[in-house]
Amino acid sequence: MLVKEAKTEEPWRVGVLFSHSGFMAVIEDTQLRGTLTAIDEINDNGGINGRPIEPVIYDPGSETAAFGRHANRMMVEDGISTIFGCYTSSSRKSVLPVVERLNGLLWYPTLYEGFEFSPNIIYTGAGPNQNSVELCRYLMEHYGKRFYFIGSDYVYPRMSNKIMWEFVRTNGGEVVGEQYLNLRAKPKDFIPVMKDIKETQPDVIFSTVVGEATSTLYQAYMDCGFDPKVMPIASLTTTEAEISDMGFDVGEGHITAAPYFDGLESEANSTFSARYKKRYGADEPTNMCLEAAYFQVHMFAKALEETNSLDTDLLRPTILGSEFEAPQGKISINQGCSHADLWTRIGKVNRGGRFDIMYESKSRVSADPYLIGYSRSIAF
Ligand code: ACM
Repeated sequence: MLVKEAKTEEPWRVGVLFSHSGFMAVIEDTQLRGTLTAIDEINDNGGINGRPIEPVIYDPGSETAAFGRHANRMMVEDGISTIFGCYTSSSRKSVLPVVERLNGLLWYPTLYEGFEFSPNIIYTGAGPNQNSVELCRYLMEHYGKRFYFIGSDYVYPRMSNKIMWEFVRTNGGEVVGEQYLNLRAKPKDFIPVMKDIKETQPDVIFSTVVGEATSTLYQAYMDCGFDPKVMPIASLTTTEAEISDMGFDVGEGHITAAPYFDGLESEANSTFSARYKKRYGADEPTNMCLEAAYFQVHMFAKALEETNSLDTDLLRPTILGSEFEAPQGKISINQGCSHADLWTRIGKVNRGGRFDIMYESKSRVSADPYLIGYSRSIAF
């Protein structure tokens, strides 16, 4: 009896893999916090089938290869099969062969470029049909058709720009410049880019810059005296976290497409925000990446309650098709492609560093990571 009780109280051990140091910590640390907020909430309510969730946390320090190494260590040495983690697409691609080889399950809570499928990954961030399509339409309607692309130099920005280029071109627009900067870019690296923007005079700057360099980009833009009312920076990655980092005055007037923004009115968001702000501070904003990190733990917990096992082969079919009342609204994991069906929103940064909603989809938008629904026509 004693042995049995000890056994049933054993924690469910899961891996957590986000950078809390290095140039990506500005956003990944919020994903870590979102993950821990959900785990705390679940444990405070008695855990899953009477057993608490125990996070095993490693810090990859913003180094791509460290993600794969830590994932391997988690699975081989720590006996873990479920991992929550990764922001950059390069870090996801470093973990992918590990979870495929060892039959683990990676929950990936970040928007990305699409065009990927793994039976060992659940994708809970937006794909291009859930952010880029409406963003392109909105920018063309409100600012014009001449786009300038600036991105960090790795797979997500290059691929994401290819897709945006297709949307722009098909709808009568033009890409007048395209530049990529090192992930560790410094202020001086942005000077020639700003000079080029001054010369080419686009209607909008589409940014796929990530991490600490985001603040540097927006500051360089401001230092050049550009006006967001005329030529805003539009992004898929600049969240409330990066806006706090750069300062509200620097971010004001710029645009982001995302499934979620801080301050959305819903019961689920009130509960989530209150819990997050109680733990991390009333002034700490939430953002789309931390929201996905939060709700995906709850979706995992619901599936685990049913399977009572961490076996990937049992969890996966239970997760596919499941629904959850997330802070952004009701969402689901698409049965066909393991990506989440999510809401589309477009926000403009206000003086208080939060986003005013300029557009909202009427319902959640089905995941379409290979843009199959757009293959014949992506004209608006
Ligand atoms: C990203 O690299 N998926 C933002």
